[in-house]
Amino acid sequence: MSGMAHMHAHSYPLYERFRHIMDPYWYGEGKDGESLADFGLRAARALEDEILAVGPENVAAFAAEPVQGAGGVKIPPETYWPEVQRIIDKYGILLLADEVITGFGRIGTWFASQHYRIRPNLITFAKAVTSGYIPLSGVLVDDKIVAALLAHEDDFHHGYTFSGHPVACAVALKNLEIMEEERLVPR
Ligand SMILES: Cc1ncc(COP(=O)(O)O)c(C=O)c1O
Repeated sequence: MSGMAHMHAHSYPLYERFRHIMDPYWYGEGKDGESLADFGLRAARALEDEILAVGPENVAAFAAEPVQGAGGVKIPPETYWPEVQRIIDKYGILLLADEVITGFGRIGTWFASQHYRIRPNLITFAKAVTSGYIPLSGVLVDDKIVAALLAHEDDFHHGYTFSGHPVACAVALKNLEIMEEERLVPR
């Protein structure tokens, strides 16, 4: 799903349904004389342009990292996310924040979504939930997603071999307890 082109070598036709927009990366994409704030708005409006190009009825969700990590540690201008959220709300699509890297205090709030004041419907998380000592990952979903799942007459069939592994969950709980006790996030 990501824009990391070297991973697309393995792609199959389904992946063509994922569309990509420009990075909110002023250093690389900003124009001469364009302010950081103006660039953030322009980068966000690339989302609206893409939604209109494919038709809003064909867009399920926008997925992004609040701060890009593996794609190059690209910190968006402060104008970027509020404008993205406005567009998300306008077209009624879902927002998926990939917080695998940014989650659990990495940028000074528990989640980067809190720093940028966005309201993702889904948040993916992993790494720092256990500080990396034991593998654990997950997806947080909001009431809208829960309601859709409950309203569906069938069960939500999915599963992973190690889903809900008690050792991983115990490590995560202990890790979060230590982070809270030592006030690592505000510090
Ligand atoms: C931002 C981001 N999202 C997703 C992933 C993939 O996570 P997982 O290995 O849990 O699928 C990574 C892995 O490094 C990542 O950095």
